[in-house]
Amino acid sequence: MRNFFGKTVAVGAIAMLALTACGSGRDGDTDSGSGDSAKGFAANSLIGVALPAKTSENWVLAGDLFTNGLKEAGFTSDVQYAGASTTVADQQAQITAMVTKGAKVIVIGATDAAQLSTQVTAAHAAGAKVIAYDRLITGTPDVDYYVAFDNFKVGQLQGQALLDGMKAKKPTGPYNIELFAGSPDDNNATVFFNGAMDVLKPEIDKGNVVVTSGQKDFKQIAIQGWKAEGAQARMDQLLTSTYGSKELDGVLSPNDTLARAIIQSVKSRNKAVPVVTGQDSEVESVKSIVAGEQYMTINKDTRTLVAQTLTMVKALQAGNAPEVNDTKSYNNGSKVVDTYLLPPVAVTKANAAEAYANDPKLAALTK
Ligand code: BGC
Repeated sequence: MRNFFGKTVAVGAIAMLALTACGSGRDGDTDSGSGDSAKGFAANSLIGVALPAKTSENWVLAGDLFTNGLKEAGFTSDVQYAGASTTVADQQAQITAMVTKGAKVIVIGATDAAQLSTQVTAAHAAGAKVIAYDRLITGTPDVDYYVAFDNFKVGQLQGQALLDGMKAKKPTGPYNIELFAGSPDDNNATVFFNGAMDVLKPEIDKGNVVVTSGQKDFKQIAIQGWKAEGAQARMDQLLTSTYGSKELDGVLSPNDTLARAIIQSVKSRNKAVPVVTGQDSEVESVKSIVAGEQYMTINKDTRTLVAQTLTMVKALQAGNAPEVNDTKSYNNGSKVVDTYLLPPVAVTKANAAEAYANDPKLAALTK
């Protein structure tokens, strides 16, 4: 099983998780059971950063920010991306090489949440700390910290925006929608979907919102590798099979890359563009929102996420326990991982200028 966390976030600590949490570091005990962090390490030590393939702009940005930020802080850095096709094997080899080179902390944006246990166990055996960045690593006790935007909240914001956007266009339902989710090997994909369904399911149950194709299970709607072409092909199929004469009011899209592919598919059939959600505040999607096409995105400022991760690395270097603000939501199937969660922000045309006010590149697009 790869994804067991969305629910956990939804209900907070259920009994089993609460029990697990007792052994994995709670308030005032933030060294998460992985050994002795009190010693710290030399200020110019090697810090490894293993990122997934560049499936969205945020990963590209993160790589640059880590390279510069680690250098500025005086560390030696090794920042790697998994390649586009052999992502899992690439990332496994990259992490192993970082361990061999003596990295003191390894920051990982997992390509496949469930396939890194051997590598992180080896990292621990060599005395390195492991920080899961943006995506949780599952099925292993050898993850020390998780730093991410609140993924469940991202899904809830997407679900709510979808409802609001459809209502603004057409005051009464029922509304016809379709659902898309991210890649099944990315733990976040399920969490985003569960967050969105937390908001949408009551409306579906009441009949106010109809998933016309009937495809509501994660497995049916997930897009392998977060690939734009996968989303476009599925949307093409749905339009042919289900929307001959029917109107499509909304599409839950988990991120901007897929949102633009879905919009592309609809436009190529000369259909009216429905309300489409997104995530990441990618340049092309922000332009599309300002132009009134894509309905919304999520602002998860990569600069903030990388800065928070660097704060954790610096704390470890000094021999201190990094600050966390969530010690119960993220059970990775092996333990509850001490987490620092940042708040995501929903962005539509209405609040884009305000939401990007401190991001010159995106702010310029809203003028
Ligand atoms: C990230 C999203 C991103 C997706 C595809 C997810 O794990 O949280 O921000 O859109 O990966 O790269």
